Amino acid sequence: TEGTLAEIVSHAKEYGFVFPSSEIYDGLAAVYDYGPMGVELKNNLKQLWWQAMTQLNQNVVGIDAAIFMHPLTWKASGHVDGFSDPMIDNLDSKKRYRADVLLEDKAAEYENAGDKPRADALLAEMGRLLTAEDLAGVKQLIIDEKILCPVSKTGNWTDVRQFNLMFSTQVGAVADDSSKIYLRPETAQGIFVNFLNVYKSARKSVPFGIAQIGKAFRNEIVARQFIFRMREFEQMEMQFFIRPGTEDEWYQHWKATRRAWHEAMGLPANKLRFHDHDKLAFYAKAAVDIEYEFPFGFKEIEGIHSRTDYDLTQHQNLSRKKQNYFDNDINPETGKAYGNYVPFVVETSVGADRLFLATLCQAFQEETITEGEGDEQKTKTRKFLKLHPAVAPIKAAIFPLVRKDGMPEKATEIFNALRHDFRLVLEEKDAIGKRYTRQDLIGTPFCIVVDGQTLEDNTVTVRHRDSREQTRMPISELHAYIGQAVSF
Ligand code: GAP
Repeated sequence: TEGTLAEIVSHAKEYGFVFPSSEIYDGLAAVYDYGPMGVELKNNLKQLWWQAMTQLNQNVVGIDAAIFMHPLTWKASGHVDGFSDPMIDNLDSKKRYRADVLLEDKAAEYENAGDKPRADALLAEMGRLLTAEDLAGVKQLIIDEKILCPVSKTGNWTDVRQFNLMFSTQVGAVADDSSKIYLRPETAQGIFVNFLNVYKSARKSVPFGIAQIGKAFRNEIVARQFIFRMREFEQMEMQFFIRPGTEDEWYQHWKATRRAWHEAMGLPANKLRFHDHDKLAFYAKAAVDIEYEFPFGFKEIEGIHSRTDYDLTQHQNLSRKKQNYFDNDINPETGKAYGNYVPFVVETSVGADRLFLATLCQAFQEETITEGEGDEQKTKTRKFLKLHPAVAPIKAAIFPLVRKDGMPEKATEIFNALRHDFRLVLEEKDAIGKRYTRQDLIGTPFCIVVDGQTLEDNTVTVRHRDSREQTRMPISELHAYIGQAVSF
């Protein structure tokens, strides 16, 4: 069976995947730290994304842009004026909510009660009011729907205000308005402002892409669902620069490619779905989310957006630097080169933390097993993480069966021979069963046991996490065996 979110949160903390930030000071809302197992898992996910994007695509290169950017960047991108959420405070509880989320929750309530038309009508009305920036209308809708504060159960609401989600700080010693800069709310703009640098230095021709992994910051009003919505998080974004007129074809290409990647990573097809945006940002031609079915429902893990030439044109206008590309290819309709244009962009944007959470939710398993024979037989529940070996934090654990007779030395020898290529652990303490359990809980696919026979014939047992079966294998075959399993 699968776990509830509460089980996954406590498992993540207990076994060193995710801790609340600054926990000894009672934590910091919507900020989390990755522990020893978490950082390995997250690094593996990021590395596999990086490899899928850059190494496997001849025409995609990477960059690592700074978190701080020139303040005009965020004017050009539209974030200074438009990156806000409608917020509303409850006067009794003094708690702040996102007005749209309160309405979405109400719609979900209707849908769960079997009244989908009413849910859809509510969402449509909310969309209409928000598009028209009718914040008084949004408040009225909350009142008409009799939405009560989730904490104090009153409907004592303030007006709805727009709340910009960007964090700001100051550069230099003097704090005045001109020194104000933002922490980037998305990594994408670091790619757009480097478009010219990259295409000239990497000698790329359209279509080509630029990929980046990095931190992004948003002062989210509703922080909930663990690492699903954080104030500091990590994005893995790729902007694909294309000739205008080819955007539909590339949009379809990346939509299919990205979904197939999530499936290859172990998220099953029936727990993934596309969700087309009905309400598009004014620059976007099309936008779709890839959603995963978390324990709290289907939610976005990745967005694919057809962004036209909006971003590059905006940067061209504010920087006064031409963002043109000269296309030498011959247009069959005119018989001449396509010539100068501002490229269009199709973007793929996935949250590393959301992918991590989806991976963890998917991997978490609880099963009833029977152990022992005859009178000794007993059933118990076993928890384990069924992670793809490629993403598992530890690839193999090496155990001497007992701490004597040269077994620890032999185990160390195996560890030393494999450690350059695989992340391993070597454990001598505790009964063997207890050591297996510990590895199951962190998702280690193989436990290699050195026993008496090993000292005679150089074979070991390999215990498999999912089936709990053991096979005997010569030490000389371990490298190829693990290598095969962790390849992707
Ligand atoms: N450049 C486009 C962009 O930033 P987005 O839909 O706002 O688009 C893309 O974000 C992805 O970033 C989301 O699909 C999600 O996985 C992740 N993301 C966004 N906000 C997040 C948050 N507060 N916490 C964790 N991940 C977040």
